[in-house]
Amino acid sequence: MALKLNTLSSFASKKLPYSQSHRRSIIRIRSSPPVMMCSALGAKTKDVVTHSMAPEKVEIFKSLETWAEHNILIHLKPVDKSWQPTDFLPDSESSEGFYEQVKELRERCKQLPAEYFVVLVGDMITEEALPTYQTMLNTIDGVRDETGASLTSWATWIRGWTAEENRHGDLLNKYLYLSGCVDMKQIERSIQYLIRSGMDPKFENNPYNGFIYTSFQERATFISHGNTARLAKEHGDMKLAQICGVIASDEKRHELAYTKIVEKLFEIDPDDAILALAGMMKKTIKMPAHLMYDGQNDKIFYHFSAVAQRLGVYTAKDYADILAFLIERWEVEKLMGLTSEGRKARDFVCGLPSRIRRLEDKAQANMAKKACSTVPFSWVFGKDIRV
Ligand SMILES: [Fe+2]
Ligand SMILES: [Fe+2]
Repeated sequence: MALKLNTLSSFASKKLPYSQSHRRSIIRIRSSPPVMMCSALGAKTKDVVTHSMAPEKVEIFKSLETWAEHNILIHLKPVDKSWQPTDFLPDSESSEGFYEQVKELRERCKQLPAEYFVVLVGDMITEEALPTYQTMLNTIDGVRDETGASLTSWATWIRGWTAEENRHGDLLNKYLYLSGCVDMKQIERSIQYLIRSGMDPKFENNPYNGFIYTSFQERATFISHGNTARLAKEHGDMKLAQICGVIASDEKRHELAYTKIVEKLFEIDPDDAILALAGMMKKTIKMPAHLMYDGQNDKIFYHFSAVAQRLGVYTAKDYADILAFLIERWEVEKLMGLTSEGRKARDFVCGLPSRIRRLEDKAQANMAKKACSTVPFSWVFGKDIRV
């Protein structure tokens, strides 16, 4: 799950053709010295927006409790019907069979190139930073888990989603550990760094922003894991293809739930929903692992993203395609009865996929002119990988 964002960052520097200043609850904190948002590598920012949803709108989410129970919680699978990592790993309870299965696993993995492992490791590290994502969901006004074991539908979803996601990093981590093809100590360090760094997706504690972000992200991970599955199959590791495929299908189910929530927000509050979508797109959807670090290369996220782009696992084209998909899914073009700000936001969003694609075409043409370079990745024992 990665994306080379350079070509998209130009959107962030342009002002949206409307103002969001009507949002009464925006608190702008200008601090001196600047607020440190991220500990290890992260961006310092002096302009932090928090609690940007009008306080009375919390009632919307309270009123959707029963709706969420019947429409969102159904997308969680019961534990006894869920797959578990052991279903796809060598059976450690069978002493003889275990060693044989590990041997076979290692033979299969030998067919996979180092560049594939770079992308799979990056995806796995992203999954392993799950504590950050649960934390992020619990920053959101109106839906956070207030006690840690709250029985609201929103809190039940957050914990259930986290419990399902937890299997993703767990399974990939164990498979990669057994493969012998990657430097696990470096990978473990990277995970620890990433969880320490956190992330800053600029939710502003706002559920409109938060659920737009998660809709986007779940589709991005569905695409990314789907493509690592496809590549594993092409390289002859059918077991790994199955693993990535089963994870991708979870992401698809999560996408369905999150896009339903946003669809509901478009139905009951189209103005704020479209303003939130435009606002998030203006900021660009930051990947959850954008603060990735391995203790050696402070550009490792960008290098990992470049490899993912080159292998076609997750590309800038996917970013534009996801946005186009969501615009259609939420019928944004057909939104009626908007304020003038809402209409401007709608038009901005609807024109964005083609703008992103045009920029990406230019960026690709420029890249093609440049000589290719290689970067050593600690995750694969310092092997040079083309970026
Ligand atoms: Fe996941
Ligand atoms: Fe997911």
